[in-house]
Formats: sequence, structure tokens, C-alpha cells
Amino acid sequence: MSGTDVAGNIKVELGRRYRFAAAHRLHSLQLSDEENARIYGKCNNPCGHGHNYVVEISVSGEIDPATGMIANLADLDGFAQREVLDPFDHRSLNEEVEAFRTEVPTTENLCIEIFRRMRAFPKAKLERVRVEETSNNSFEYTGDAASDSEAAPQGR
Ligand code: NI
Repeated sequence: MSGTDVAGNIKVELGRRYRFAAAHRLHSLQLSDEENARIYGKCNNPCGHGHNYVVEISVSGEIDPATGMIANLADLDGFAQREVLDPFDHRSLNEEVEAFRTEVPTTENLCIEIFRRMRAFPKAKLERVRVEETSNNSFEYTGDAASDSEAAPQGR
């Protein structure tokens, strides 16, 4: 019992990395075939292409004085496995993930979709989702007010 107040006020952030491989094709239903080809280049290839994605999930919470942890990694891993890795790993994002039947599976949108799924993790607060598409590209999403609205128009 003693120490609960102090420990309860300490907020700690936990980061955990996951990896999955998936195929995608960048093709916007809001653009003509010519525009898609021009904007996305070889990423518009009708047969798709793949990436080895690295996802970093950051959650925060107060340290449980009994366990010394903010959340059990096994719980976080199980949740990520069920909500993200099982549905995405070795899949076609365009064809096998509902959200990407209409949204373009850019890594920006992938970040948002993973955030939507991980936000329901009950044992800690989701702070951030970071996705590396390649060793040179990464995207981060922190769930601002627009997190539930339609994805913003493609701005690049
Ligand atoms: Ni790609």
C-alpha cells in the first residue's frame, strides 16, 4: 500500500517493435489511371510489390506498484499479434485488409490503420505508432483529433 501514490504518478512510456511482410499497390480511386501511373510510378504496378515493415508501438501508463510494469509485454504482444500481425503479415494489403479496399495503402495510411487497431489495447494508453517501410522511410502517427475521420487527401 505505501508508495502507491508516488508510484501512481510516474508515467512511463514503453516501445515495442514488431515486423511483418506484406504486398501492396499504390493506386487511388480518386485519380485517373494516367495520374496514378505518373504519381506512384512503379509503385502503381498492377501486380503489386512487397515490403518488410517494421512497426513500433509506444504506449504509456502508470507503473503498477505490484509488478513494477505499466503493462505486461505478453499482453501487448498478444494484442498486436491478433489485431495487426495476423491480419497483415504475408497478406495483400489492398485485397485482404478492409480499410485498403478504398484507401490507398501508403505507409501514412497504414500508420493510421494500425493506430486505430492498437488504440483499443485495454492495459495502457496508445501514444504513437511508427512504421518503417524501408530503412529510408518512416512515418509516425499520434492520433490527433482527426484520427477517426476520413484519411486526408493524398498530399504528396
Ligand atoms: Ni511500396
